[in-house]
Amino acid sequence: MQMRALVTGASAGLGAEFARQLAADGFALVLVARSADRLRSLAAQLPVETEVLVADLLTDEGLERVAARLDDDARPVDVLVNNAGFAVAEPFHESTVEDEQRMHELLSWVPLRLAHAALPGMRRRGAGGILNVASLAGRLPSGSYAASKAHVIALSRSLHARYRRDGVTVTALLPGFVPTEFHDRMGVSPDVVPRAGWANPSSVVREGLRALRTRRGVVVSDWRYRLAAPFASLVPDRLIAGVGLGARIERVGTADAVRESPRTDAQTDRP
Ligand SMILES: NC(=O)c1ccc[n+]([C@@H]2O[C@H](COP(=O)([O-])OP(=O)(O)OC[C@H]3O[C@@H](n4cnc5c(N)ncnc54)[C@H](OP(=O)(O)O)[C@@H]3O)[C@@H](O)[C@H]2O)c1
Repeated sequence: MQMRALVTGASAGLGAEFARQLAADGFALVLVARSADRLRSLAAQLPVETEVLVADLLTDEGLERVAARLDDDARPVDVLVNNAGFAVAEPFHESTVEDEQRMHELLSWVPLRLAHAALPGMRRRGAGGILNVASLAGRLPSGSYAASKAHVIALSRSLHARYRRDGVTVTALLPGFVPTEFHDRMGVSPDVVPRAGWANPSSVVREGLRALRTRRGVVVSDWRYRLAAPFASLVPDRLIAGVGLGARIERVGTADAVRESPRTDAQTDRP
């Protein structure tokens, strides 16, 4: 029987790449995001059966519709990719509490809610995979974005340890910097990250899917980040906080750090 995967945040960046690679692996797909046109245009390019589920995961109605789809035993979802996300650009002392809450919900509550909807069916069927796109930032003291990602890493590790024996794998994928629309949406110039620091989006996705297939709990993507990760815990917190993306934006200043972005609509719409 054909396997099916549901990908959140599939209209752009890593999510669209997850959809392409899962389709190449023969998965039928359920694509979730707010941008209907972009999802439909991606679906039209994929050589597999594809459902488009337009939903704002920051609304109760949108989130519950996606949860209900995951809970539908008649059309089971074998793999859930919790990928949708954004980051608040402003440093913590300047951000609005509404933006902080929306980021925290999308990065922490939404993956938990959707895993909670998907896991019982996977457990009953004795097979399934949940891939949570976290971030290397989740292992570092680098702001409230990092704190939300730390939550999803801890959740993934707990669920993986508990449900592996039932045939369900839960993997946290920890990318470093990846060139997607993520930084554009924050209104941050890619120049705040040195060229050598960017990882290739298709390699990041490939490594995530391989980790899920090989039933790993946590994977840091890109060999350079894997090499650097163990040393990060040796560096004092205040130094890490001083070189994180937030600190760079503060130092460079918004005038220099923010470039004219072709996605001004997305910025104004920023969740
Ligand atoms: N890029 C990086 O450097 C990097 C590094 C580490 C981790 N990550 C993580 O990777 C994941 C994917 O990010 P990306 O880099 O691919 O960013 P991206 O290119 O900006 O894509 C973000 C995706 O999330 C969707 N989304 C945002 N808000 C949503 C909402 N309220 N409801 C439904 N969908 C929503 C967007 O679709 P719509 O706008 O159409 O809704 C879009 O498809 C995120 O969890 C991010 O934190 C990224």
